[in-house]
Amino acid sequence: MTPLYSPLNPPHKALSGQDKHSFGYTTLQSRLPVIVSKIVDDVYRAYNGLSDSDPLKKEKEQEAKKIIELIGGLRYELQRDKPFRPFTDSREDVEEWNQALAEYYPTSSWYKASWLFSECYLYRRVKEAFALTQHWKDYDPFFEQKQTVFKSSQKAVVSMAVQLTTPVDPKTKKSMLDIKVQDGPESKGTRDAFFEMVQVSLWGNATDLSLLDNPDLAKIEELQRRMLSSGSSNNSSANASPAASTVHVDQVAQDSPEEHASELEKHADKILSNDSELLWSKVKSLRNGRVDIILDNAGFELFVDFVFADYLVRAGFASEVVFHAKRIPWFVSDVMPFDFQWTLDQLHRPTSSTSDNTPPTNFFNPTDPIEQQALQDVGKKWQDYVNNGIWKVTSHEFWTSCYSFYHLPTHPSAQDLFQDMRQSDLWIFKGDLNYRKLVYDCKWPTTTPFTKAIGPLGDGENKAEGVPVVVSFRTCKADVVVGLAEGVEEKMDKVVDNWMVNGEYAVISVSP
Ligand code: F6P
Ligand code: MG
Repeated sequence: MTPLYSPLNPPHKALSGQDKHSFGYTTLQSRLPVIVSKIVDDVYRAYNGLSDSDPLKKEKEQEAKKIIELIGGLRYELQRDKPFRPFTDSREDVEEWNQALAEYYPTSSWYKASWLFSECYLYRRVKEAFALTQHWKDYDPFFEQKQTVFKSSQKAVVSMAVQLTTPVDPKTKKSMLDIKVQDGPESKGTRDAFFEMVQVSLWGNATDLSLLDNPDLAKIEELQRRMLSSGSSNNSSANASPAASTVHVDQVAQDSPEEHASELEKHADKILSNDSELLWSKVKSLRNGRVDIILDNAGFELFVDFVFADYLVRAGFASEVVFHAKRIPWFVSDVMPFDFQWTLDQLHRPTSSTSDNTPPTNFFNPTDPIEQQALQDVGKKWQDYVNNGIWKVTSHEFWTSCYSFYHLPTHPSAQDLFQDMRQSDLWIFKGDLNYRKLVYDCKWPTTTPFTKAIGPLGDGENKAEGVPVVVSFRTCKADVVVGLAEGVEEKMDKVVDNWMVNGEYAVISVSP
């Protein structure tokens, strides 16, 4: 019989801020207050920037002051470990949140409850402060941060765009990626590209904003450098000259394997559990399948998710990719549907005015015309996928509920989501929070098989009917990890203090 797991009864002891040595404690103690203070700064800047000619300026200002007051109160409650209180806005998820509070945590508070619950509750409370207003209902207080960090990713973004779209073969006009996948789904080129794409998508998760309380843009750039394969850096970079951008395909083919030892490979040993071979064995047999990507962060991570999704389509594995975004601002940098379209717009909208009245964007401004073209081409290609229904973006309240994904198959309000997702061949969960929700954010022995730790989504006897292959690409930022070989935990403990949470290590986990 399936055990009745609930937020109060996870499969193992829940991670919680009660443990002073845990990352949950550090998060509640130091990280979340900073995040919350930044919201206040952001709203303050936003209302100070309101135009005098705005007839609603006064009303907006008053509402903004109210938001600041509520967010200040939230910070106070968090820092004094005050009891949770029910929600008072009228979003459609209020009843469910209030039921959960009443059932699991009627008298509990931030440090006493599970870390997962407290943290989700915080972001939902932030939403409440905006939802109670008329003019700031849809405001995303993290948008500016998302933008800044994405802008700082120009080098890596441009480099990848070139690899994806710039012709390297003058005769066929094929790009580097086209050439890699041209011999079909079972070819060596397609396989090699797959392993590269998986790692690119994985390390994209290293740059999220909630971990980087004070985003250090140089550090982000360094993290992104590891994703640029020598194949791309040969012929592209923000500094590359136009001539360098037309490297001939034969030159790529002739490079020695050593020259191709990419930054990615150098970081391969940081993937502590790597099921990508198993994933490849599943993906290579897909033809025109459906892949669902449960997104994590906006900005650079979303860009590389697009890169991976594009690969799946071009290689013939998927003819439909469904991206799942969050409906409310979540864990600072998570993708909302607005971010999805905004990101595409920054790529394919021209940098100077055109005849068709499309407003120009100067978001990325590479000086090399070939790089400018690459951004436009890649953005246009992806926009076409959206326009033609090959890529879809959707969102559901379940992703911002307090529930772990054990509840996806059975939770009453997630039934429409689950029934739809059952049509898929592959679910790819991106990032740390999705991982925590997959494994119920509790203290599993690190050698527990992933497929066991994800309960009904795994392949044990309690597997829910219709769940396809489940994959997680996650850099480790919380003190839970499973799927490690015997001895890995002990070895890591000896070398790095905070390896489970510092975002430097990663896992690629698959449940077949
Ligand atoms: O704040 C805690 C946390 O959940 C960490 O586990 C992680 O650092 C971050 O928030 C979210 O990370 P990600 O964007 O990868 O889900
Ligand atoms: Mg995130």
